[in-house]
Amino acid sequence: MIIGVPKEIKNHEYRVGMTPASVRELVNNKHSVLVETNAGMGIGFTDDDYVAAGATVLGTAAEIFAKAEMIVKVKEPQAVERAMLREGQILFTYLHLAPDLPQTQDLIKSKAICIAYETVTDNRGGLPLLAPMSEVAGRMSIQAGARALEKSCGGRGMLLGGVPGVAPAKVVVIGGGMVGTNAAQMAVGLGADVTVLDRSVDVLRRINAQFNGAVKAIYSTADALEQEVLAADLVIGGVLVPGAAAPKLVTKDHIKRMKPGSAIVDVAIDQGGCVETSKPTTHAEPTYIVDDVVHYCVANMPGAVPRTSTFALNNATLPFIIRLANKGYKQALLDDQHLMNGLNVMHGHVTNQSVAEALGFSFVEPKVALNA
Ligand SMILES: NC(=O)c1ccc[n+]([C@@H]2O[C@H](COP(=O)([O-])OP(=O)(O)OC[C@H]3O[C@@H](n4cnc5c(N)ncnc54)[C@H](O)[C@@H]3O)[C@@H](O)[C@H]2O)c1
Repeated sequence: MIIGVPKEIKNHEYRVGMTPASVRELVNNKHSVLVETNAGMGIGFTDDDYVAAGATVLGTAAEIFAKAEMIVKVKEPQAVERAMLREGQILFTYLHLAPDLPQTQDLIKSKAICIAYETVTDNRGGLPLLAPMSEVAGRMSIQAGARALEKSCGGRGMLLGGVPGVAPAKVVVIGGGMVGTNAAQMAVGLGADVTVLDRSVDVLRRINAQFNGAVKAIYSTADALEQEVLAADLVIGGVLVPGAAAPKLVTKDHIKRMKPGSAIVDVAIDQGGCVETSKPTTHAEPTYIVDDVVHYCVANMPGAVPRTSTFALNNATLPFIIRLANKGYKQALLDDQHLMNGLNVMHGHVTNQSVAEALGFSFVEPKVALNA
């Protein structure tokens, strides 16, 4: 199969669909990979690195889209990219279609086979191609929070781990899933005093076992949450209610009563945030202050560490890319229900029920669309 990797064109997006190491795996499987010039430049991969891995480097995205049978990207295709998609071409990337009518309309029109990273599932009920970004964001949240606690950022002027003779900061993590567990791990590693709140007793059991008691795992009632948040120096918001906006667990009233100079990193901001006073910010200006509480609410945290994020994403996507290339999309989808769950739009039909419902399209079963 001919696989195409265009350079990402969304503002400040430096990640790339395939690393040179991933290219080499595909070439070893007897496929051809076309990479747009400078596609990996932002994270230190030169065209020569790609050529050494066996890729052919082409000058424009138009050439890549014209020749490739499968396009592998990171972000959803922008309007100019969508115009280059063609019937029968495979698109494998993040799509996030539910809130994006123009993109969905264009993908329907293209008649391409559009598989979204974010809806591919696994045996444990997880989303394996979203998980790496939650790991990155969870770990980064502690770096961001540590910085927010510095005096020059408006924080209390506290070191997360304290020093011998001085107590560490109290970090409260709301939600003990992928983001929360990774945040807790970093915070414990830095020597902070860490508490995780969750609504799932299974999650609390896992946290307790995983950290051998070094992290307090507390059931998240309104009462417990209030007590913990008011005592915290740093709060990390990592809740998720699948398919819904994040619940506003930290209220305006809590913010007013929190310690002056304390900080909140609301990682769940991409789902609207779990703090009433949160509003999305960017890496250019990541924080703002409400009632003396520093808020960090960057909606695309992994974008700040695109090199790590690209490697993490490739580790998760590569097995699927290889299967799609080796078997062809039909067989690869039929053989793997989890990959099939990633199919969002195909041959002009919407094949994901939530996307169809959100945007008012009729839903066509993926298997029906596949055999049409
Ligand atoms: N800002 C970013 O750049 C970025 C990057 C990655 C992920 N995220 C977001 O981070 C959030 C968390 O993602 P995740 O992968 O960790 O999800 P996850 O499903 O692994 O974990 C979410 C946890 O929240 C818990 N929860 C739900 N309601 C709760 C409540 N009322 N009180 C306490 N806990 C509750 C769940 O039991 C679950 O354990 C999501 O909104 C995700 O989109 C943001």
